[in-house]
Amino acid sequence: MTSIAPATTECVQVSTFVPQYRELSPGFGLELIGYDFSKGVPKSMSLQIKDLVVKYGVVVIRKTNLTDETHLELARMFGELDDVKPYLKAGRPNRLKYDELFDVSNVELDGSILDPLSPRAQANKGNSSFHVDSSFNPRRAGYSLLLAHELPPRGTGGSTEFADTRAAWDDLAEVKKSELLQADYIACHSILHSKKLAAPEHFADIEPADHPMGRHKLVQKHEASGRMNLYLAAHIHHIEGISSKESQAVFDELFNHATQEKYRITVDWDDVGDLVIWDNTCTMHRAMGGEFASKYRRDMRRATVHDDSTQAWGLNEHTEVRQGLP
Ligand code: OGA
Ligand code: MN
Repeated sequence: MTSIAPATTECVQVSTFVPQYRELSPGFGLELIGYDFSKGVPKSMSLQIKDLVVKYGVVVIRKTNLTDETHLELARMFGELDDVKPYLKAGRPNRLKYDELFDVSNVELDGSILDPLSPRAQANKGNSSFHVDSSFNPRRAGYSLLLAHELPPRGTGGSTEFADTRAAWDDLAEVKKSELLQADYIACHSILHSKKLAAPEHFADIEPADHPMGRHKLVQKHEASGRMNLYLAAHIHHIEGISSKESQAVFDELFNHATQEKYRITVDWDDVGDLVIWDNTCTMHRAMGGEFASKYRRDMRRATVHDDSTQAWGLNEHTEVRQGLP
């Protein structure tokens, strides 16, 4: 662990305690210790953390002491928040107190553990493939802030894995980069596609092509860092303008490349209050699952920040329509 100079003295709760950081892999993923939000959420601290997320793609902050309220307060400092209102309107109630918190738990409304055979558990299976959040919606997600409220016992699973899609772009052969820049592919993202791949029987009657998809450039600049990025996700149903066979080949090649071990980091959730912030526009992530799923509660709550880059809406109409709704 290396000491990190706090942005201002506000960062230090106890004068003798200096926040520390550790790179999870060279240039990708940063772990911070000593950021305690129990006395509030200083703007200076959020700006400092945002800079680190832009640089490292993923920032893990241990034992934050955040609550639902301060979690949302911090998230709002990252930008405009997405919410679950369209799902509420569609008749899917939220267990959580605030519409801006997405329930990523295995917990039912009555507090019981989700039955792995239930429709919701089947739908959640899609989360175990590498993805970005909300690329299927008209406006994609920028940052996600996931906070642990209750964790299963150690050794029973529940870690989250991340992949570095900027490094994956950087390492492509020059000739491949030129080819991709020349092609300027548009990929079509569908939440139903990734869910159906993960649970084919449950979604047998769903045809993703019958539903709207989010359209985004496959190769694009990550504006906040100025680096190029492969905007990939298991949500990609097809690439426009080429045959489905070619489309599958282009996708498979890039997805297999970007999810190689050397681009991945695993984040283990150690304590309640651990927070992970990632930038969906330069990383992918997936839930690693485990034996805990049917035995122990894992209560995770996510605040999702709308992207505010020029690529936020991709090639989509600016509408409120969301996917995956009945
Ligand atoms: C998410 C997500 C993975 C996890 O919150 O968007 O994919 O490990 N979570 O819970
Ligand atoms: Mn996700």
